[in-house]
Amino acid sequence: MSRTDPSADALLTARGLHKSFGATEVLRGFDLTLHRGEVVVLIGPSGSGKTTVLRALNGLETPDAGTIMVDGGPEIDFALAASEKPRARQQKRLALRDRSAMVFQHHNLFPHLTVLENVIEGPWRVQGRPKAEAVSEALALLDRVGLGDKADARPHQLSGGQQQRVGIVRALALKPDLLLFDEPTSALDPELVGEVLLVIKELADEGWTMAVVTHELSFAREAADHVLFMDGGVVVEQGPPARLFGAPQHERTQRFLTRILRPLDGDA
Ligand SMILES: Nc1ncnc2c1ncn2[C@@H]1O[C@H](COP(=O)(O)OP(=O)(O)O)[C@@H](O)[C@H]1O
Ligand SMILES: [Mg+2]
Repeated sequence: MSRTDPSADALLTARGLHKSFGATEVLRGFDLTLHRGEVVVLIGPSGSGKTTVLRALNGLETPDAGTIMVDGGPEIDFALAASEKPRARQQKRLALRDRSAMVFQHHNLFPHLTVLENVIEGPWRVQGRPKAEAVSEALALLDRVGLGDKADARPHQLSGGQQQRVGIVRALALKPDLLLFDEPTSALDPELVGEVLLVIKELADEGWTMAVVTHELSFAREAADHVLFMDGGVVVEQGPPARLFGAPQHERTQRFLTRILRPLDGDA
């Protein structure tokens, strides 16, 4: 994909996002451009604001200031929104929710519903699409991730890796413009991580636009077009994975990478 004009094919542009919880300023001017078909991986220490970024992009969180624009739609200016009535603010936030779908660290499937019912909940009940259509699309998606025979199972009958794959299918069923993953494998037993990363990698290869928070660096190396290192609520450094991992420029990036590559060193 041509990157000569950085804004020409931007699917999502976030500028200067700020967010505080009480006295804690969690985002201090976060910027992100996601081009169509691009895979961006976000890394950074715990508490650096990664989840808050994804939640803001997904309309689950309202930033205090900054702008977000999706697919040439209206630019949402959260600083202006602050002076608006709560209802108007909420509508801006909800406009973002329909554009992206998020896969969480924990799958958040409804335990009392079958796999199929979990997947059609969004397209059928929330988006109001015909049930038969939602069902046939859900079955096709489940088949694609190797879970065609699990449609009638309950979440607790599945392994953690299978549950996470259902979580991914549930996001795909919403037909979003972009996919957001928040540490999708960090709650899994090590032997289940690979099957979930494989599905995400396949989606990346198919051309989905996605932002992925993960510390699986081999996945990031293979799948990411661009890696952002966040610390203290800002992007400290970014670049293609080979450069960011191979030749990080900032001391904070170097320190972080050393710690996650050789976690025991810090304890010595
Ligand atoms: N709803 C909330 N209320 C209060 N503090 C929060 C809330 N959400 C996140 N925080 C705080 O914001 C900081 C950054 O959180 P988060 O975005 O989850 O970081 P990360 O995902 O990088 O670990 C943390 O210190 C966290 O405790
Ligand atoms: Mg997080």
